[in-house]
Amino acid sequence: MSGSSFGTIFKLSTFGESHGVAIGGVIDGVPSNVEIDLDAVQFDLDRRKPGQSAIVTQRKESDKVQFLSGIFEGKTTGTPIGFIIPNEDQKSKDYDHIKNVYRPSHADFTYDQKYGHRDYRGGGRSSARETACRVVAGAIAKQILKLKGIEIFAYVDQVGAIKMQGEVSSEVIEQNAVRCANMNDAKRMEDLIQLVRKAGDTVGGSISCQILHVPAGLGEPVFDKLHAELGKAMLSINAVKGFEYGSGFACIEMNGSEHNDSFNEDGSTKSNFSGGIQGGISNGMPINMRIAFKPVATIIQDQKSIDSEGNPVIVGGKGRHDACVVPRAVPIVEAMAAITILDFMFRANAVKF
Ligand SMILES: Cc1cc2nc3c(=O)[nH]c(=O)nc-3n(C[C@H](O)[C@H](O)[C@H](O)COP(=O)(O)O)c2cc1C
Repeated sequence: MSGSSFGTIFKLSTFGESHGVAIGGVIDGVPSNVEIDLDAVQFDLDRRKPGQSAIVTQRKESDKVQFLSGIFEGKTTGTPIGFIIPNEDQKSKDYDHIKNVYRPSHADFTYDQKYGHRDYRGGGRSSARETACRVVAGAIAKQILKLKGIEIFAYVDQVGAIKMQGEVSSEVIEQNAVRCANMNDAKRMEDLIQLVRKAGDTVGGSISCQILHVPAGLGEPVFDKLHAELGKAMLSINAVKGFEYGSGFACIEMNGSEHNDSFNEDGSTKSNFSGGIQGGISNGMPINMRIAFKPVATIIQDQKSIDSEGNPVIVGGKGRHDACVVPRAVPIVEAMAAITILDFMFRANAVKF
């Protein structure tokens, strides 16, 4: 049984269930003597936490991280950074009705098939609560990457059928509840989320992520290509159904003559259909990715399902849930991008700290 760790040198292991005492993690491979801005870590956690706006789940979790080791007098010691985030608002009774029942398209059936015993409260280990631990590690990785000039930002670019049409303005992302990079589009997306929420339903969406100023040379061909690891990082996030980088699936309808990124004399390219990666190695251009999230399973409508004995049952959504998860998933995407890129920097030894 494994799969609770990510990374090779900069490595995060997480533990905990949604309604247990706490969730937490251990981050190994952090260099010593790095000043850590703890407020910046908490800021990213606040961007992910429930109850932050009217369009997300109204579960109340303060998501306050407590560091247990590895940081002393504001600086890393080079030893493992251990941390916990206590669980506060567990209304486990909300989940009694699904104890022996499988919610359609959630992970109840598969966890039961695999383990035969599961903590069903709040989805247990399959709950996206675990992603708060990724946000802690990602916030630390982002700070280390910033020392080398690398910046990461993500934003919502589609909710249901509403696509972002206006200009990307990174400064407005935190000024609207959807975390869209355009204020006009944000309003249209927010209206749709409210409509879906009132109907007791859910809706999908997508997030764009840009990684800027990555040096050429990151990525370990052939199996640990940079885009392969970024894909794994993103696809490991709960509810993610799709990943593309650069031209992505749009490349299918293009010819090589338009898709090829021709060089400038300094090695940069005039276009960036490669998405900053060629042959699994960064080429120095911005890395851009797009991640698709499904309409999540918990809906406040009766659904036909089965119990663990195979008997037909009706499942009603009683727990508090997100009508659309992309606004809260933006910091998770940034975190997984940061963890992946920093790990590759250490692996390539491309930069000395
Ligand atoms: C930020 C965030 C919040 C989520 N909240 C819910 C939720 O309220 N209800 C739900 O059914 N799924 C929610 N999910 C998704 C489930 O965790 C996920 O669908 C489930 O574990 C099954 O995994 P899969 O969809 O990746 O196959 C959320 C995902 C994210 C990223």
